[in-house]
Amino acid sequence: MATQISPCSSSSTTFSPSSLNQEPFSSAKLVNFSRKSSPSRWVFKIHSRINPKNQFELKSSNGYPLNAVSLQDGAAEKPLAKEIVLPEQTESNLSVTVVGASGDLAKKKIFPALFALFYEDCLPRNFVIFGYARTKMTDEELRETISRTLTCRIDKRENCGDKMEEFLQRCFYHSGQYNSEENFAELDSKLKHKEDGKLSNRLFYLSIPPNIFVDSVRCASGKASSKTGWTRVIVEKPFGRDSESSAELTRSLKKYLAEDQIFRIDHYLGKELVENLSVLRFSNLVFEPLWSRNYIRNVQFIFSEDFGTEGRGGYFDNYGIIRDIMQNHLLQILALFAMETPVSLDAEDIRNEKVKVLKSMRRLKLEDVVIGQYKGGKSYLGYTEDPTVPNDSLTPTFAAAALFIDNARWDGVPFLMKAGKALNTRRAEIRVQFRHVPGNLYKKNFGMDMDKATNELVLRVQPDEAIYLKINNKVPGLGMRLDRSDLNLLYSMRYPKEIPDAYERLLLDAIEGERRLFIRSDELDAAWSIFTPLLKELETKKIAPELYPYGSRGPVGAHYLAAKYNVRWGDVTGEE
Ligand SMILES: NC(=O)c1ccc[n+]([C@@H]2O[C@H](COP(=O)([O-])OP(=O)(O)OC[C@H]3O[C@@H](n4cnc5c(N)ncnc54)[C@H](OP(=O)(O)O)[C@@H]3O)[C@@H](O)[C@H]2O)c1
Repeated sequence: MATQISPCSSSSTTFSPSSLNQEPFSSAKLVNFSRKSSPSRWVFKIHSRINPKNQFELKSSNGYPLNAVSLQDGAAEKPLAKEIVLPEQTESNLSVTVVGASGDLAKKKIFPALFALFYEDCLPRNFVIFGYARTKMTDEELRETISRTLTCRIDKRENCGDKMEEFLQRCFYHSGQYNSEENFAELDSKLKHKEDGKLSNRLFYLSIPPNIFVDSVRCASGKASSKTGWTRVIVEKPFGRDSESSAELTRSLKKYLAEDQIFRIDHYLGKELVENLSVLRFSNLVFEPLWSRNYIRNVQFIFSEDFGTEGRGGYFDNYGIIRDIMQNHLLQILALFAMETPVSLDAEDIRNEKVKVLKSMRRLKLEDVVIGQYKGGKSYLGYTEDPTVPNDSLTPTFAAAALFIDNARWDGVPFLMKAGKALNTRRAEIRVQFRHVPGNLYKKNFGMDMDKATNELVLRVQPDEAIYLKINNKVPGLGMRLDRSDLNLLYSMRYPKEIPDAYERLLLDAIEGERRLFIRSDELDAAWSIFTPLLKELETKKIAPELYPYGSRGPVGAHYLAAKYNVRWGDVTGEE
């Protein structure tokens, strides 16, 4: 058997059996990581001498152990499947079942991401993809549906058509109810048939509304989990509406799954710039020493969309912008930004540090929040005019908030968040505003407004990924005139290769068992406890959102909130 390590694997020295289906036993050492109350699991530890070169060539998201089985992972009351491999059974098959395959997310993101991974040779040799939903469809109809969205970022590439055909031939469909054990048992038979006796690793992607998560997991675990390899489940947000419902969802899922089988996805964590945040900070001496209250005046996390709910308000109205964007995407980025240096790049070390930051945060108070809702005009419908939204809805489509981390590093530094729909622009960015230079020799060149001389580091997550640092610079010439210039790293100029979609990275990580970019249950609890009291107060007091015009910069209240903490929003200074 030839040694074959996927070029998409991270620079790991630890692989699960599934990654090792071509690995000679002579070069692998069997290590038994016994766990307290879940079954022991066998992991092969590969000595780096086998292929040391790969450590610098591998493509996927982490530079740390793949498939590392954490000793801290939660134990299920009823673990799904033992990851035990018989020595002779070395060929494995990966099956990915997209539950809710008829839906929007599946078509728009999941199938295209799987195709991109296939195109890049990041999927194992033996794999099969199943769509599962109630809609009646044949295999051919599923292929026809997904072929319309597969082109995504690869369509101009070599052999794309052939690769697409090859990929589609690996896609199948099974129609069933989400609460039917019988239907999942039928799926199991089809999966077994395709697996053809090989070691079976199964990934279920729950791309369905949250009210059917638990039924689907119960049926999948009872009737369609792998008996020989691993079974993992990716769960899409929302993970509850508040602390209680989130804890209840976790409790219910853990009846059928161990914590380390649950991959709670926050697709912002798969975005290139968010991934780069830690690299920028921890591998550049110029940044890490500045990363504290001593030099940073405030940090801003900004998300805006230039469209409203446009007929898809049913889901949104039940959640609102705080739950939809702030409590998960922006807070996750904040935690990565503010965490202490983890002991290593291991998923548990990183997630431990994120939890510590979240636990050090103050619960958000009503006086530190501004909420808004967009209204219509001549050409655009307002939020409550959307036919899928109740006329009297108070759901915020915009929110700004000031958060604080009560620890030694960040004491007193405002972390401002702003998120909104139907604004003047589409963007997601992190802005770090540094303190003024004490005793600045060039003070008179800036007039009265020292904010104009503030250094600002901007990480633009989307669109047009970029990192730039605003500095003060002398305008060339005989006089002494200063202006603000950017040291600019625009990704499209520096890296001509297209950037993978976040879903590609996250799917690959779930397949490889890399949990770093997925949210652990204690992280989720800590995140909800920051926002839950505020959300309850907004709802019980029926606080009316400030109306703002469709396509505007949002409510003026956001500026007053920032001003209360001596901050100006970096995105509205008029310089960009
Ligand atoms: N769309 C996005 O961009 C996006 C982004 C982030 C997170 N999410 C989350 O990802 C999940 C999937 O999103 P989606 O936009 O694809 O959702 P969706 O289109 O509303 O639902 C996916 C599928 O689930 C089934 N379904 C829908 N409502 C159901 C109900 N009440 N009872 C039983 N089955 C139902 C339908 O399939 P059948 O009728 O064929 O069974 C539907 O095709 C959701 O949890 C959503 O919150 C979506």
